[in-house]
Amino acid sequence: MKDLLSLKDVSKEFILDTIEKAIEIKQNPEKYATILKDKTLLMIFEKPSLRTRVSFEVGMTQLGGHAIYYDVSTSPLGKKETIEDTARTSERYVDIIMARLNHFSDCKALAENAKVPVIDALSDENHPCQILCDLQTIKEKFGKLQGLTLAYVGDCENNVTYSLLHGCAHLGINIKLGCPDDPELKPKQEIIDEAKAIAARNTELSKVEVYHDAVEAVKDADVVYTDSWMSYHIPEDRMEARKQKLLPYQVNSALMQNAKPTAVFMNCLPAMRGLEQTAEVVDGPQSIVFDQAENRLHAQKALMLKLLGKI
Ligand code: CP
Ligand code: NVA
Repeated sequence: MKDLLSLKDVSKEFILDTIEKAIEIKQNPEKYATILKDKTLLMIFEKPSLRTRVSFEVGMTQLGGHAIYYDVSTSPLGKKETIEDTARTSERYVDIIMARLNHFSDCKALAENAKVPVIDALSDENHPCQILCDLQTIKEKFGKLQGLTLAYVGDCENNVTYSLLHGCAHLGINIKLGCPDDPELKPKQEIIDEAKAIAARNTELSKVEVYHDAVEAVKDADVVYTDSWMSYHIPEDRMEARKQKLLPYQVNSALMQNAKPTAVFMNCLPAMRGLEQTAEVVDGPQSIVFDQAENRLHAQKALMLKLLGKI
């Protein structure tokens, strides 16, 4: 496998091995301190970021390599330069590329035209790096993955939701979505069908269910997950209308009561207190959001080493 573009296209074994290696690297970071000596990661950003930018750059430093932050707004890309020429030029300099581009089709074109590995670091359709680290975090908390139930509530026409659907389906985790019955906020049927097809490959079939009721979605879940109602690409003037529709799906203490007493709360961050969740939940004892954020570092180190054939 050359690239990581979508969790739809990877194997269950690839995900499990990445998680296992991420946990090992987290425990023994010094063992990998020079493994990427003289290697360079190009990080192309068309959208903002805290976690992705910093964790990839720190990850490269800790592996003995170097990372270049490249902001599309100060580049010829999309103006004087095509995505294809960007790929063909960059591959002459760097060993691996990660890209946070608006459109998944551009990320695919980058991968198709570069001989070096390309990682989708969030697009309109996917956020695979996030979900690899989330699965690592769940494994660390519960000691297992198969048979758990993850409830995701809020905006479900969403990159994080789609990668969660693919990732959970591969690993036999039941996934229940809760969202309004509204085309702007519910998952595309195509992705639900993809997740069901992936789940059907497992001997212990996991469930993929969509509810238009937050309590039903969260009932008996091990993990309650939400994401921003205002993803980076959503215009500010949609805020009020989306807020009205999504408030019944806010993760607050009353909603958390419907999950298992042992349930954890997750959010890929950034988080807006008072919108997709209340402060008492994200800052409360069930929240593991900063463990998730930390694991971006470890899971992405494992991912880069795997794509570069180093582990
Ligand atoms: N979760 C995540 O990808 O965060 P950033 O947008 O800060 O990179
Ligand atoms: N769905 C969010 C994820 C941010 C990490 C977005 O696209 O902005």
